[in-house]
Amino acid sequence: MSVREGKKKPWGGRFAGKTHRLVERYTASIHFDRRLYRHDIQGSIAHAKALARAGLLEKIELEKIVVGLKEIEQEIERGDFPFDPALEDIHMNIEHRLIQKVGEVGGKLHGARSRNDQIALDLRLYLREEIQAIQEPIRSFQRALVGCAEANLDIIMPGYTHLQRAQPVLLAHHLLAYFEMFERDRERLSDCQKRVNILPLGSGALAGVSLPLDRSYVARLLQFPTLSQNSIDAVSDRDFIVEFLAAVSILQMHLSRFSEELILWASAEFGFITLPDAFATGSSMMPQKKNPDVAELCRGKTGRVYGALMAMLAILKGLPLSYNRDLQEDKEPLFDAVDAVKASLEILTALFTRLTFNRERLREAAEEGLLNATDAADYLALKGMPFRKAHEVVGRLVRSCLEKGKRLEDVSLEEFRRFSPLFDKDILRFLSLEACVDRRKGIGGTARRSVVRAIRQAKKRLVS
Ligand code: ARG
Repeated sequence: MSVREGKKKPWGGRFAGKTHRLVERYTASIHFDRRLYRHDIQGSIAHAKALARAGLLEKIELEKIVVGLKEIEQEIERGDFPFDPALEDIHMNIEHRLIQKVGEVGGKLHGARSRNDQIALDLRLYLREEIQAIQEPIRSFQRALVGCAEANLDIIMPGYTHLQRAQPVLLAHHLLAYFEMFERDRERLSDCQKRVNILPLGSGALAGVSLPLDRSYVARLLQFPTLSQNSIDAVSDRDFIVEFLAAVSILQMHLSRFSEELILWASAEFGFITLPDAFATGSSMMPQKKNPDVAELCRGKTGRVYGALMAMLAILKGLPLSYNRDLQEDKEPLFDAVDAVKASLEILTALFTRLTFNRERLREAAEEGLLNATDAADYLALKGMPFRKAHEVVGRLVRSCLEKGKRLEDVSLEEFRRFSPLFDKDILRFLSLEACVDRRKGIGGTARRSVVRAIRQAKKRLVS
């Protein structure tokens, strides 16, 4: 796009000189805010209807404007709209083209409106859609997690704390942890949506408008349940973007943690999963390599999303009321975060549904490392020994096992009894991985029956 120096501006009346080309280039936002064209047109049509209702547009004028705006939408979609950076932004590009198409009457559209309330409206319309466009794929990911949990209820794996093997858990239980994380993400986005879904139009530049516009009518047309209550706030508020970016930062952080686990699990050291060929990459030098680049990039993109949140907070922190041009800088980080999150959700879900879990390897890992030691202590506690004492007794037992390279299951009853006479012949069955898992049968535990219940409830939450 070339910048035509000194093109006539909407504010041209007050200016004797032309805008310098450097200024035009520096202030233009059309190369990124063109993304808002649909929302800008949607808002303009509603505004035109409100103008007509207030008697400020004849019926025939309204029709002309609406037809013109719809044609412009098609031009943009076809890719033959003459975007002009000298016209700064999407609002002026569309308005200019409208006047070209329908003549002077097009100039009536901007009555009782400022670009300040217009851009606030566009952003809210845009974000309202994107929130839904993010919530849906979160749900798909959750559905995939529940499906995988249900299909693999028999797989036992080591559960970790400090990245050290801790206690045996069902793979399904581990996967459902992510279900919960994503459930909170959906809730956070729904909550944020309430504060996005507020109509700012009618605030004008900052003080409200003097022409008799029916704001409630516009709100109904655009399906906003609420009107902004203070015009100064309405044109300067970007809290809803900060909230959105905070919510997607947390979401992306969850995707990143999941990615990190996939990266670890795909390593030879873990060997828990095999990545599908179609979702792995090779090395240009090392012929044997199979790399988890998708998961790594998802982890990496998390930095960009956090960056967007930081950028938005930093842009806002020193702004006096009300609108300031700094606010134009809200869009690129917002769009970038939206793109990163949507792409990450999509690809990670696709990758996840194609993963192979190496069940033997998961089981072996759960069998190594004395993961049933807590249960041995619980056994003694159940027989009346104070848990602290039981912990110490089993600690000594564990040390002896480590010295001999044994598992607890390899210890004979006689040896057990040397550590405590409370051990009985039921101890070996008590220590099997299945028994350890199934004993944790409270709500939220890893027992098969708790997990089955969690799956049932997860399915309900997915349809509500
Ligand atoms: N492009 C501007 C933005 O993104 C639109 C509002 C400009 N308003 C103004 N008075 N310069 O924020």
